Amino acid sequence: MPNKQVIVLGLESSCDETAAAVVTGEKQILANVVRSQIKEHTPFGGVVPEIAARAHVTEMDRLIDRAMREAGIGYGDLSAVAATAGPGLIGGVLVGLMTAKAIASVAGVPLIGVNHLEGHALTARLTGDVEFPYLLLLVSGGHSQLLIVEGVGRYRRLGTTIDDAVGEAFDKTAKMLGLGFPGGPAVEKAAKSGDPTRFSFPRPMKGRAGCDFSFSGLKTAVRQAREKLGDGATDQDIADLAAGFQAAAIESLMDRVTQALDIFQNEYGAGGTLVVAGGVAANQQLKASLEELAAGAGIRLVVPPPKLCTDNGAMIAWAGVERLRAGFTDPLDLAARARWPLDPDAEPAPFAGYKA
Ligand code: KG4
Ligand code: ZN
Repeated sequence: MPNKQVIVLGLESSCDETAAAVVTGEKQILANVVRSQIKEHTPFGGVVPEIAARAHVTEMDRLIDRAMREAGIGYGDLSAVAATAGPGLIGGVLVGLMTAKAIASVAGVPLIGVNHLEGHALTARLTGDVEFPYLLLLVSGGHSQLLIVEGVGRYRRLGTTIDDAVGEAFDKTAKMLGLGFPGGPAVEKAAKSGDPTRFSFPRPMKGRAGCDFSFSGLKTAVRQAREKLGDGATDQDIADLAAGFQAAAIESLMDRVTQALDIFQNEYGAGGTLVVAGGVAANQQLKASLEELAAGAGIRLVVPPPKLCTDNGAMIAWAGVERLRAGFTDPLDLAARARWPLDPDAEPAPFAGYKA
């Protein structure tokens, strides 16, 4: 067949979701199977790396089999196999990458090691018409970053967190308030019946130059307020704390995005596109605030559907499609990396990682 359709299998296993998906070059998601490990980690109130790695080992083969059957294709139909090669919990990353290597060598197709953040960064191009360059707000459990996406493999980081990631701050706040795991949705739900003005929490980094984030001071302020209320805290107290935290976190995020928008529009002119990715993008309050900000700045806001904002295999498969088209494939001795910044200039030499 001269014009064989591009079809990529994508595997994700860098945190607590085991996922496999099949995506075509024409942006069709033929299968997107995700298995969350929430049940395994709930008793511990957070993700336990060893438990995560074991669950990925147990589940990955079964999920790939399901994805391939749902897509109605055989391994011979694949153009490439993509897997998250980092950053993330190294035991989990190894599971997906090793599996992808095995499939690539047996099926005789290229291996593509995808940076998990690149997966989030390019999702908006799978779900809609988004041209390079665009501004990206990446807000997940492990990352808070503002980046200019210039092209496939070309990312310029404008800001990152100097302590906790936003999602992590939501998760830790939920734990302090006894709202359970994962915390983001629980805090958002509790905040709905709370008064965001009752507690005056700090807006970290607000008014500061640059686009970096910080959330640990806010977290400490919430903890102190919670402790002051003691054992007699009512449901209303908890709702007010959740609402106060959420309002402060979002206001601080908006300030950072405003700074980044200035930089982006100064460089590329008025208009443009702001893309939001990562699990926290599911937060409706955040979305409403971003819509208001984007309208004021005359920039188009793109938020992919929540299912594709949280960790999934389709984003890795799509990044594989984009990398394959750009001519980026990887050797079978590609190393898995616990740390791997998207922008190589943004940090000193990354952690060398392990050979997978
Ligand atoms: O992107 P993701 O699925 O995994 C990582 O790569 O980290 O993001 C998960 C994070 C968790 O911290 C979770 O609490 C947060 O996204 N999250 C939310 C909401 N839904 C998920 N945070 C705030 N509001 C939400 N509705
Ligand atoms: Zn993620």
